[in-house]
Amino acid sequence: MSDAAIHPLSSRRGGSLRGRVRPPGDKSISHRAFLFGLLTRGDLEIHGLLEGEDVLATGQACRQLGAEIVRHAPGRWSVHGPGLGALMAPRATLDFGNAGTGSRLMMGVVGSHPIEATFDGDASLRKRPMRRILDPLRQMGCQVIAEAEGGRCPITLRGPDAVSPILYRTPVASAQIKSAVLLAGLNARGTTTVIETEASRDHTEKMLSHFGAEIRVTVEGEGRRIDLVGQPTLRPAPVHVPADPSSAAFPIVAALIVPGSDIVVEGVMTNPLRSGLLTTLLEMGARIERLDERDEGGERVADLRVRASDLVGVDVPAARAPSMIDEYPILAVAAAFAKGRTHMRGLHELRVKESDRLAAVAAGLAAAGAAHEIVGDDLIVEGGAVGGGGVVETHLDHRIAMSFLVLGLASERPMAVDDAATIATSFPNFRALMEGMGAEFG
Ligand code: S3P
Repeated sequence: MSDAAIHPLSSRRGGSLRGRVRPPGDKSISHRAFLFGLLTRGDLEIHGLLEGEDVLATGQACRQLGAEIVRHAPGRWSVHGPGLGALMAPRATLDFGNAGTGSRLMMGVVGSHPIEATFDGDASLRKRPMRRILDPLRQMGCQVIAEAEGGRCPITLRGPDAVSPILYRTPVASAQIKSAVLLAGLNARGTTTVIETEASRDHTEKMLSHFGAEIRVTVEGEGRRIDLVGQPTLRPAPVHVPADPSSAAFPIVAALIVPGSDIVVEGVMTNPLRSGLLTTLLEMGARIERLDERDEGGERVADLRVRASDLVGVDVPAARAPSMIDEYPILAVAAAFAKGRTHMRGLHELRVKESDRLAAVAAGLAAAGAAHEIVGDDLIVEGGAVGGGGVVETHLDHRIAMSFLVLGLASERPMAVDDAATIATSFPNFRALMEGMGAEFG
């Protein structure tokens, strides 16, 4: 699979950031919207879809499995699915590009249908561990026909004629593992159960219920237990995608660290299982106000007014990691500008994201001249003056690219990233949205 062309980009300190912005639709919900469009029979309408490369790759895979997908206007899409149990065998490899979520959730879908499909992606996806998905799928009767060394892509799966429901305890707090098992359980006769000791994002559970599946979530001694009754009739119902808190994180932190800034970030999903960064920033003394809290498409959202703030370092407990797993790179940037030490604990899962994010963040902080240390799975950042002036290797990781471009908006000297092309996977209008508030790139 070929990787996109490489685009170096740099950012520099300018005036304060001002204005109202709406970040793109949530990536997690957008992937799931396409997947549920495939699994429901009939027309599913989507409003506010993230038109990023990752989500479009999932859409393309849904087409290869028999869905008709139409774009009516920006963010406004419809999916006409063949429905659960009626997927077509794809003629070509399913190419997920950079998309871990799309590929892993789709493995649950395909691995529970009696069809054969090959999953592949870019150099980053090919490095990501997939055994965490293949193990439960094997228990459900799926055959892994081929896999690259270490359980990596390219991977070829063939689902069984009859899927066995299982009870599965996720070995790490991961919504991707939980969702792959639940999506596979949809095509099993009987009840599939997932137990997670720490709660991970609950979009799959909410959407299953939205489309009419019988699903029960209970909190018990062992953690959070999800029971899903298989082989439901999934009825299409419109999906309204709220703004992605993981993307909102970049303009929010930018406004906090660029002196004099005062912005409003609109329509940000405030689901508590996604709000760890907000909690942490407030503890650091961030001036963030929630305005006009409301419901949008089954999720709580709010407009966030963010003003430049004097941040202080804090201790971030490991238990908070699942609710802010994608936000540590940008939190590390905020921490570099805070007074004192920020200690982020229990970051082992960061090593298996789009890049080894722990190493990539440390290298980025080093390039920016920001004092930091990795101790075991913890990242410790000593805040203070940030010189900047370096070049950061992004390793095909959109969040590394955006985080260090945000850093460059407030550091003494400009900051460069070797490749900003992957930003298009999750936040295609990042540069335009940030420039609209006064950010300077070049
Ligand atoms: C996601 C879950 C998280 C997150 C990813 C999106 C999802 O991964 O990092 O960006 O949509 O389910 P894990 O569940 O593996 O932690």
